Amino acid sequence: MNIKLKIFRFDPNNDERPYYQTFEIEADPMDRLLDCLNRIRWEQDPTLSFRMSCGHGVCGSDGIRINGICGLACQKLVKNLGEEVLIEPLPVFKVIKDLIVDLGPFFEKYHSIKPYLMTKSTPPEKERSQSPEEQHLFEEAIRCILCACCTASCPINQNPETTSYVGPAALVRSFRYLFDSRDEGSEERVSLLDNKDGAWGCQTLWKCTEVCPKEIPVTREIGRIKRRIYEAKQKK
Ligand code: SF4
Ligand code: FES
Repeated sequence: MNIKLKIFRFDPNNDERPYYQTFEIEADPMDRLLDCLNRIRWEQDPTLSFRMSCGHGVCGSDGIRINGICGLACQKLVKNLGEEVLIEPLPVFKVIKDLIVDLGPFFEKYHSIKPYLMTKSTPPEKERSQSPEEQHLFEEAIRCILCACCTASCPINQNPETTSYVGPAALVRSFRYLFDSRDEGSEERVSLLDNKDGAWGCQTLWKCTEVCPKEIPVTREIGRIKRRIYEAKQKK
């Protein structure tokens, strides 16, 4: 099939303002959008800039906006996109070049929630063991690949440089540790999240859940964090 890709272009070193450029290519309906972008770069315009690495929904580096909805280029089949596809960088973040955005503010917020296991007790001789049932409590959150599609789609988070809300991706990672039976930093995590820039910044708008390429129930997990905060306060 013949498809047209209308792609956002902007090179701050050479362009006064962004513009859209349309490329036409022959594609197999089962080609992925990422295959098309690669072919354009190899065969038509080597200056077209975008991130990619694994090509299989694992690294999270090719998050872009496709026909107005954030997603991974490697997970979108051409047959499901129509004959003309609008391709833009993730909204919200500053464009570095074409489809590449500055994810610095995203990772700053991610690091602010202490995304690692916190322990206080003496380490056991072998390992901190965990039952399958305990692991099941947070296993969906482990699927997060930090693609930033959720945070870019969140209406609360429209300017990550001026909005202090940590955003859904950071909250998913908080959930992952808050509900991990081996983590002993619950009190510190609750106080980090118990404010309008943490869990209470979420207004339950579901946009994050709608776009997550790993089908993580993001909004539901944020709701469970809120409940955990509430329960912790009741105990005091
Ligand atoms: Fe991407 Fe989903 Fe993780 Fe958000 S929660 S960063 S959309 S994988
Ligand atoms: Fe790695 Fe798409 S290229 S997730």
